[in-house]
Amino acid sequence: MTAEDPLFTSFSIKSLKLRNRIVSTSHEPAYSEEGLAKDRYRAYHVEKAKGGVGLTMIGGSAVVSQTSAPAFGNLQLWKDESVPWLKLLTSEVHEHGAKVMIQLSHLGHRTSNYKADWFPAVSVSAVRERAHRAFAKAAEPWDMEQIKQDYVAAAQRCVESGLDGIELMLYGHFLDSFMTPFWNKRTDEFGGTFENRMRYPLSVIKAIRDAVPEDFIVGARLSFNEHRANGLSYADLLEAAKAVIGEGIDFVSALEGSIDSDGRLTRIIPQQRRRMLQS
Ligand SMILES: Cc1cc2nc3c(=O)[nH]c(=O)nc-3n(C[C@H](O)[C@H](O)[C@H](O)COP(=O)(O)O)c2cc1C
Repeated sequence: MTAEDPLFTSFSIKSLKLRNRIVSTSHEPAYSEEGLAKDRYRAYHVEKAKGGVGLTMIGGSAVVSQTSAPAFGNLQLWKDESVPWLKLLTSEVHEHGAKVMIQLSHLGHRTSNYKADWFPAVSVSAVRERAHRAFAKAAEPWDMEQIKQDYVAAAQRCVESGLDGIELMLYGHFLDSFMTPFWNKRTDEFGGTFENRMRYPLSVIKAIRDAVPEDFIVGARLSFNEHRANGLSYADLLEAAKAVIGEGIDFVSALEGSIDSDGRLTRIIPQQRRRMLQS
């Protein structure tokens, strides 16, 4: 480790300058209380800032809609009460020299029909994920419009909270379920061709981009190969990444694989895999 080590050089995304390239990627520690980032949640990320990270990404899959029942202690960004807590977290992380963003999502089929307010799980089509086992309903036009508005409102709460940006979760949840023929069985203008399958997620990105300031960072986290028959290949996902960047996405966080079964999840989160292999 030397002073010239690229890991310790600063990095800029638009006007946001990170002090180094060390990033704590989105993961949900399940420290939320009533879906809010209260004291314990804040302390967890402030310690990362004190430890020297350039960027800490909070809220693994913070949910944007009340219709997305939290599956693993997710932050609930549809609540207005989230703003004062996020303001506090942001200012304390900033005091220690780090930047902070949040990952936003709608879990789609990746939750239960019988949690929180018991809204039916909703996905691109009437599908069932092996890991969470909800019988999801196929999104109707009003679901799609409501969820789009929820994304916009959540993004605006993030701006109001002073966060440095947001990251859209685009693998294994609602938005990206439109992108892949593995889940997308629609026969309307949102199914079939690549252009049709990208239509809804791109429209949500556009709506968010139009609603937040120009210099507010909007990123996306994408898997670059679903590794399955009838799923998206590396070449397909490269095209998808180009399309989301074309709609105003500022950075892409790259992964590989899919998360709809425990076996697949352990391959995308290697730490867990190592632990499982040892046990
Ligand atoms: C408990 C836990 C929850 C996670 N939740 C999310 C999540 O909500 N969204 C996400 O994009 N990644 C999530 N991840 C994945 C991490 O961001 C990261 O990609 C993964 O742990 C691999 O990191 P590594 O390559 O540094 O080992 C989660 C990981 C863990 C361990």
